[in-house]
Amino acid sequence: MTTVVIGAQWGDEGKGKIVDFLASQADDIVRFSGGANAGHTIVHGGTTYKLHLVPSGILYPDTQVLLGVGMVIDVASLFGELEELEQKGVRWRGRVHVSDRAHVVLPGYSEEDRELDTKRRRPIGTTGRGIGVAYARKAARDGLRVCDVVDDLAYRELPESERRYFEPYRDELSRMAIDLSEYMIARRGRRILFEGAQGVLLDLDLGTYPFVSSGTSAAAGAALGGGLGPRGIDRVLGVFKAYSTRVGNGPFPSEFRADRDGGLEEHIRERGAEYGATTGRPRRCGYLDLVALRYACRSNSIDGLVMTKLDVYDDAGRIGVCTGYRYGNQTLKTVPAGVRTLESVEPVIEEMPGWQEPLGDRRSFDELPAAARNYVQMIEDYVETPVDIISVGSDRSETIIRKEPWTQ
Ligand code: GDP
Ligand code: IMO
Ligand code: MG
Repeated sequence: MTTVVIGAQWGDEGKGKIVDFLASQADDIVRFSGGANAGHTIVHGGTTYKLHLVPSGILYPDTQVLLGVGMVIDVASLFGELEELEQKGVRWRGRVHVSDRAHVVLPGYSEEDRELDTKRRRPIGTTGRGIGVAYARKAARDGLRVCDVVDDLAYRELPESERRYFEPYRDELSRMAIDLSEYMIARRGRRILFEGAQGVLLDLDLGTYPFVSSGTSAAAGAALGGGLGPRGIDRVLGVFKAYSTRVGNGPFPSEFRADRDGGLEEHIRERGAEYGATTGRPRRCGYLDLVALRYACRSNSIDGLVMTKLDVYDDAGRIGVCTGYRYGNQTLKTVPAGVRTLESVEPVIEEMPGWQEPLGDRRSFDELPAAARNYVQMIEDYVETPVDIISVGSDRSETIIRKEPWTQ
């Protein structure tokens, strides 16, 4: 069985925690998009792991992890990350595989990325990891792939400066390089988890363009970027937070506003530790946006949702949620394509009572207070998609299962 896990908002939904949780029963974890712009956090046994390129199944010693076709890989960062894992006692050799068709991020790309962004009339606020540059080169058919580094003939044609850069990693990378589709065929029938990066609203095609990343973070990217055809995907899970966050610039209709919401943004940012796992930037925070979440469900065939960070609302007297966008005299229930339109909408905020008790030790839906159950049910009704898993803390164990994840 194959299960895809994607972010259903603007990234940082807790994909790392959820993939790690689901990986206990998986054979292979495939990251299918993005690069070191991602920051996926796993908390287990008192240790925090921040992963950028390595898939979030790495902590299980018998699990194979794969970096897929759709990724753009900074080779030095990858080996730096593996070295850090090794120092924390994680053995990775022989378990980490890299698609030979994945693209490579070269050292100059980060600077180029940052320069390009400052020159934009409206900067995106990229992570500065060279991601947009690598995907642009790929689309322009001017990119460098893993196969070009590990294949002797192609390697000889690289400029000397590039060969010097790759030399320390080349032998190890050659042992890790695989034909991903062939690997997938050989693993047919096993439990395979596809790990997305970023989120639907940062997807190049479905997101709030041009304030997006350059990869395919949508569920469809799991097939192409994970070495399968579309019929190879059995189930799609969308991860979302009990509220919304966004890092960098771009429209965010339900963002907290000091004039309307007082100090709510700072309060949620501190309670939820909303600082970027890659850049350390404070994340912008806002109400849960049900219009955007429903859009994510519909455009990605999401079968089930995973709600994270419900515990961050533990002390809230009332909880607001965005149920529409006011635009002139209309109320929109879908996400408009135009970024100018999205920037000028006013959110319709409805309020619900909070529960004002800690949820961190709850392990079943029935143990949740009625107000928390009502919040979940209200979301399900609006987006017409069930919430199968609820996370009430960052640790692997702080998770409530409503539907067994490995059943269709
Ligand atoms: P990702 O990019 O989607 O993997 O998410 P990040 O790791 O960037 O950000 C999610 C943050 O929330 C991490 O610091 C997680 O440890 C933390 N987290 C995940 N689930 C929960 C939860 O249910 N409650 C709380 N309080 N923190 C959580
Ligand atoms: P994870 O996987 C949140 C945002 C950046 C910027 C835009 C483009 O941890 O959820 P890029 O460097 O990709 O060209 O930046 O996308 N962004 C993310 N925001 N989580 C991420 O990844 C992100 N990856 C990119 O802040 O606004
Ligand atoms: Mg993140």
